Amino acid sequence: MAASHEGRSNGLSRRDFARMVTVGGAASYFVAGRPWTGPAQALPQTPAAPTESFWGAVRDQFVMPRDLGVMNAANLCPSSAPALDAMYENTRDMDRDPSPQNRVKMGQGKEDTRQLLADFLRVTPEEIVITRNTSEANNMVSSGVHLDEGDEVILFADNHPSNKRAWESKSERFGFTINELPNPSPHPGPEYYIEAVRAALMPRTRVLALTHLTSSVGDLMPARELCRLARENDVLSLLDGAQSFGLLNVDLSDIQPDFYTGSAHKWPCGAKEAGVLFVNQRSHDKIWPVILSAYSGRVGISRTHEGFGQRDEPAIIAFGEALKLQTRIGRQAIEQRSRHLASLAIEELNKIDGVQVWTSPDPSRRAAVVSFLPGNLDVRRLSAALYENDRIGCATRGGQDRGGLRFSPHFYNLESEVERGVAAVKKYVAQGV
Ligand SMILES: Cc1ncc(COP(=O)(O)O)c(C=O)c1O
Repeated sequence: MAASHEGRSNGLSRRDFARMVTVGGAASYFVAGRPWTGPAQALPQTPAAPTESFWGAVRDQFVMPRDLGVMNAANLCPSSAPALDAMYENTRDMDRDPSPQNRVKMGQGKEDTRQLLADFLRVTPEEIVITRNTSEANNMVSSGVHLDEGDEVILFADNHPSNKRAWESKSERFGFTINELPNPSPHPGPEYYIEAVRAALMPRTRVLALTHLTSSVGDLMPARELCRLARENDVLSLLDGAQSFGLLNVDLSDIQPDFYTGSAHKWPCGAKEAGVLFVNQRSHDKIWPVILSAYSGRVGISRTHEGFGQRDEPAIIAFGEALKLQTRIGRQAIEQRSRHLASLAIEELNKIDGVQVWTSPDPSRRAAVVSFLPGNLDVRRLSAALYENDRIGCATRGGQDRGGLRFSPHFYNLESEVERGVAAVKKYVAQGV
């Protein structure tokens, strides 16, 4: 059996399923209580102006039942069916015959995913390390870049802990300092950030660590300009792409960070426990490997920085399948679709008395992460009611800093789900929950 999933867009074959039911007593996955036997409709070519019915066909490439509207891509996306199938088929293949002779092809599957990642991010396979997730990739940078006492790292208040707490902990250990810049609310515009970083650059500044799109309220940072500023000042840039990878049509050959990180299980809709660290060719000698073991990659930086021991290769192969699906649909179409759904949510939420949308209304300052305060409702109870009564899944954001609910719709969501979610919020704001 091949390690990749070429030419197969539906789920288990009927023969496989029948065998599993007879032999194993259960199917590998179910949708609405019934075994998944493939998408309800095949995926057509993406039209120049994709319609709602086209996006319905895209939705059918996911095993999520049609009555469930989960708008939580910033946290966890469903794996697409091709990704699930690749994971299942390769896992079963390996467990049927775990000999080195059979497993060897999985190594090629990993390299195929590296090539797909390189194409997706518009860089070279020699610059790609396949990690476990964004957290691991961010920490590989903060642990792998050598910094001395007196050196300085610039980061932002609204970085994820893996790109903030991680630097703080290492600064305590190694004696470098941190200059934390604020993220004012609402988004003050790209010029503000460019000037803030320009003013913060010092002779001993070594690293600029930023988030491409924040997970809190979805502020889009001027990544290209900030990475250029860093580069011009001999400062390394780490761009955390957990919220941009698989959502935005990211082109790293244009942004040119030194390091970029992402997770398969978020916007790319790949497997869990797979991620990426891009290390720009010009910076290969600026980062030490922090985990050393067997089974490294075959090309470029992966030969020295990807020896993580035994891996879940089927998950890594599934990651590649997820990227193929996005590429087939079209990266630009996916970005536009997610942005459109987010704009629809913002527009409708703004019409509700008592709701305060934290996310910038300006499309150039945000993408598809939308956070809002739903009046004075208890957000945990609201989220439970949305899920139980209205079949809408979303994230709650507790705490003092622009708390509330977060809708992060993606290309598998439908306009009707956004409308249903917003209508339900309106109902609960009016009548309580
Ligand atoms: C901006 C950002 N960075 C890093 C992460 C960590 O991602 P993971 O849990 O996949 O490592 C997240 C998770 O939400 C995030 O939003």
